Amino acid sequence: MSNKTLAIIKPEAVEKGYSGKIIAMYIEAGFKIKAMNMTHLTKPSAEGFYAVHRERPFFNELVAYMTSGPCIPIVLEKENAVEDYRKLIGATDPAKADEGTVRKLFAVDIQHNAVHGSDSDENALKEIAHFFSSDELLNNY
Ligand code: CMP
Repeated sequence: MSNKTLAIIKPEAVEKGYSGKIIAMYIEAGFKIKAMNMTHLTKPSAEGFYAVHRERPFFNELVAYMTSGPCIPIVLEKENAVEDYRKLIGATDPAKADEGTVRKLFAVDIQHNAVHGSDSDENALKEIAHFFSSDELLNNY
């Protein structure tokens, strides 16, 4: 079991000014912020990050959305990080997300769903490496 996961506060949530409230929810839930950045994804970077979804009908829209403005990737640490973070953010589709979850509170729809979360320990490590160098992680508290 890994103790890290990758969160991304997505462009529409950043634009609406929800970042502070979302980060506060992470900290209150017991996650430590190990690395954080604000970045505007390029098309190749977004396509690479979401490569597993390349064949899905929503892929082009997803890439257009994720490159539409700045986003905030964050490395979060906690015991059982991947699973606990997914509980905290709720279902991919906010209409199906539990009350009090990040997506229920801040998402618009299944695509504009406020935040990303890694779906497995293996993908968490790959996704963290997409945004952060090992130096950035090692030099952190
Ligand atoms: P995320 O957790 O970042 O992982 C893949 C993303 O694809 C997902 O959140 C949504 O933003 C998007 N997505 C997943 N399913 C759909 C869908 N059915 N229609 C549109 N976008 C989707």
